[in-house]
Amino acid sequence: VKDYTGPVIGDAFGAALDAYWRGTKDAQLLIERDDGFIERNLPSLYFAPPDELDEWDAWALERATGRVLDVGCGPGRHMAVLQARGFDVTGVDPSALLVGICHERGLVAVGGALPELPMDLGTFDTLLLLGNNLGLLGSREEAQEVLAGLAAVASPAAQILATTVDPCPDSCASEHHPYHEANTAAGRLPGHLMLRARYRNLADPWFDYLLIAPRDLEELLTDGPWRLADYHGSEGRYAVRLMRR
Ligand SMILES: C[S@@+](CC[C@H](N)C(=O)[O-])C[C@H]1O[C@@H](n2cnc3c(N)ncnc32)[C@H](O)[C@@H]1O
Repeated sequence: VKDYTGPVIGDAFGAALDAYWRGTKDAQLLIERDDGFIERNLPSLYFAPPDELDEWDAWALERATGRVLDVGCGPGRHMAVLQARGFDVTGVDPSALLVGICHERGLVAVGGALPELPMDLGTFDTLLLLGNNLGLLGSREEAQEVLAGLAAVASPAAQILATTVDPCPDSCASEHHPYHEANTAAGRLPGHLMLRARYRNLADPWFDYLLIAPRDLEELLTDGPWRLADYHGSEGRYAVRLMRR
């Protein structure tokens, strides 16, 4: 093997979606897991029109109320739906490229990342974590900080509407099972993923992304600022509404 330096660490996810947005419709976005598992991800998903939203994100959007913050908004597909419905909606995302696309689409978005969201935006009645962004809870340990960070920008009666994947639904025979088991053996939640996006010569810095079963979510929420108020699930995927305690 030659002495290459490996991928350049940068905003691979943002760059892939930006390339797609600017006309490279075959931009190849990959998601890499720390055990070497690699999967293709389609940039087009993040620009899906309202009638192609999946049923869990659609369930969540139906329940939006008041002033809305879309956390990890990406290029803004959920914001576009709510803005068209007359909502006051703001997005926050760490990717300057994705925030820039939101602006080009006429959406309000700012740079920022959990667990310390910008504090100069005021408070919000609905916080969205869609497109599986409940994963931004990160890990059992990080989750408490993230839940507190969300509470810091929430109005007193605020709700979180979030979607995710149950890593171990009834039949747990998938190719991901050994990864989940290794996590459990190491004392981590089974769906505690370490991921990074890859695009051309770019790789994101590794980040934690948590797929969580409903019962583990309830346990994580014990004693924190949020309680589970509503659940809509099928086929191993689900949406939740969390209310402030
Ligand atoms: C799976 S994408 C979902 C994007 C969008 N919600 C959607 O469904 O189209 C995850 C998004 O979260 C953003 N993100 C990553 N880490 C974050 C953090 N710590 N806080 C807020 N957003 C984050 C990424 O830049 C990316 O745009």
